[in-house]
Amino acid sequence: MIWRDSFKIGVPTIDRQHKELCDHVDKLQEACSQGKGTEEVRTMLNFLADYTVKHFAEEEAFQQKIKYPKFAQHKALHDEFLAQVTKLKKEATDGGVNIALVVRLNRIVSDWLVNHIRGVDSDLKNYVSNT
Ligand SMILES: [Fe+2]
Repeated sequence: MIWRDSFKIGVPTIDRQHKELCDHVDKLQEACSQGKGTEEVRTMLNFLADYTVKHFAEEEAFQQKIKYPKFAQHKALHDEFLAQVTKLKKEATDGGVNIALVVRLNRIVSDWLVNHIRGVDSDLKNYVSNT
């Protein structure tokens, strides 16, 4: 998915991190279309393992700072995504990377971009702009 300015929530650090994830998802999809998905999956999983922890911590700290009313349910979604990433990473380490895993990872991160960054996080944008 190509990053658009309309995806921004208006907080530069968070927007930069969201774009970074979007760019990585693009890279993964490009690799998949060239039949190089399995190679890119490891890079992506390593990136995600770091990124999710750091980015979620920052986004959550920001939400607490502004007293975002939906913090608890938002954090639960972050935790769920983190658990999915951790599970896939373990599977890749234990059993190796196969096409099924590539497809699952692709679906998880694409859904995340659409449903979370463009969906749930945009509610945060409304809250920020109304306070
Ligand atoms: Fe979020």
